[in-house]
Amino acid sequence: MQNIKSYIDEHKQRFIDELIDLLKIPSISADSAYKKDVLNTADAIKVSLEKAGCDKVEICPTDGYPIVYGEKIIDINLPTVLVYGHYDVQPPDPLDLWNSPPFEPVIQNTDKHPEGAIFARGACDDKGQMYMHVKALEYMTNNNELPCNVKFMIEGEEEVGSANLGKFVAANREKLENDVILISDTGMIAKNVPSITTGLRGLSYVEVEVTGPNRDLHSGLYGGAVANPINVLTKMIASLHDENNHITIPGFYDKVENLSDEERAEMAKAPFSLDNYKKALDIDAVYGEEGYTTNERNSIRPTLDVNGIWGGYTGEGAKTVIASKAFAKISMRLVPNQDWEEITQLFKTHFESIAPDAVKVKVTPHHGGQGYVTPIDSTGYQAASKAYEETFGKTPIPQRSGGSIPIVSLFEQELKSKTILMGFGLDSDAIHSPNEHFGVWNYLKGIETIPWFYKYFTELKSAE
Ligand code: BES
Ligand code: MN
Ligand code: MN
Repeated sequence: MQNIKSYIDEHKQRFIDELIDLLKIPSISADSAYKKDVLNTADAIKVSLEKAGCDKVEICPTDGYPIVYGEKIIDINLPTVLVYGHYDVQPPDPLDLWNSPPFEPVIQNTDKHPEGAIFARGACDDKGQMYMHVKALEYMTNNNELPCNVKFMIEGEEEVGSANLGKFVAANREKLENDVILISDTGMIAKNVPSITTGLRGLSYVEVEVTGPNRDLHSGLYGGAVANPINVLTKMIASLHDENNHITIPGFYDKVENLSDEERAEMAKAPFSLDNYKKALDIDAVYGEEGYTTNERNSIRPTLDVNGIWGGYTGEGAKTVIASKAFAKISMRLVPNQDWEEITQLFKTHFESIAPDAVKVKVTPHHGGQGYVTPIDSTGYQAASKAYEETFGKTPIPQRSGGSIPIVSLFEQELKSKTILMGFGLDSDAIHSPNEHFGVWNYLKGIETIPWFYKYFTELKSAE
């Protein structure tokens, strides 16, 4: 790995330009108006994998957006790394809060990124992080430093729940056979505090609809005499947490694994400043489940959050009306051992049971997935840890994240291998928010670190 630094120095402008080209394509999987762009992005990934040295690259159709599969098999007796990532992005709205258009990438300096950051939807989640792997492969193949086999599986439906990936994985177990799965789609604590994500939360996402009278009514003539679906919905939602911010759905916590005091003490050692956290979000106080710290609340504890709520009149001025219907989208972040389908059912039963007779309630499950935790004594984790030591000069801290990549637990189930989450984004990179960005330093550091993972993984695996 002698040349990696000089290779990056020599090619960094091209690495940045190529990523910028990829970021210009609005691959918004949630919005069918962008279908052509999503498909074009898959084509662009295919070309980039071919250029980077994959021997075989194919666009695998699914019932939704295709999966780009590529591989370079140098010797079937050597270990195989399977890289997963996604080429789809979140919708960029609200557009007016962006300082520059989301699909016209620009490089700007920030407090956290004095070397510049690329601002665009998908810069960090996940085009930038996924493309680090493509460029790391380019380096390894061009310099004869690829020590093992590599497979790529890049999907286009992660941001909408990966509905078709499970079927693809189950149907292609042999093709996807591997010794470790490597993903960069998470974050790290800080540029001088490298960390490896060892856990992801599960997810249950539901939509609820509350119907009162069969039509919108005059709020004077009928007000007070019939159930107002918006009043009822908000009351029902409010009752889902008690005064300690515990979730009130019966059975919700039954399977939650409680961490030991030692594990919690270990977690608390990770550097964290509550003051900086509050400052970064412009809040005077944090808020959450009684008895847990901020870092525990957003990683090892389950949550229930309203993601959107609507109904009635929201236009200009005032309209005196009792709406016929009210709606909300609700997500529950789950921790390992909680089963998302069971939680969805518990939610549905409870939500229907608390509705007054004066309304009808419909609960529609959207999607979900299981949480994930991975041990730090696995070969993959050890190899990743050594890789960070090489490029950051520090041992990375294992950290459980609050986000979800629901497909990861399915990978383990179907492919029987561990996933290593080497994320290089920062919490402040604003993924899913306006002005998403990815630090140029982080991008290049990722490209530098990944080849070391391959080297150490191959060495450790071969010594087993
Ligand atoms: N890359 C994120 C997940 C993530 C980000 C995990 C940062 C840990 C740290 C992923 O693209 C994502 O947004 N996942 C969704 C779930 C999905 C089913 C839409 C999420 O976590 O909301
Ligand atoms: Mn992602
Ligand atoms: Mn995302």
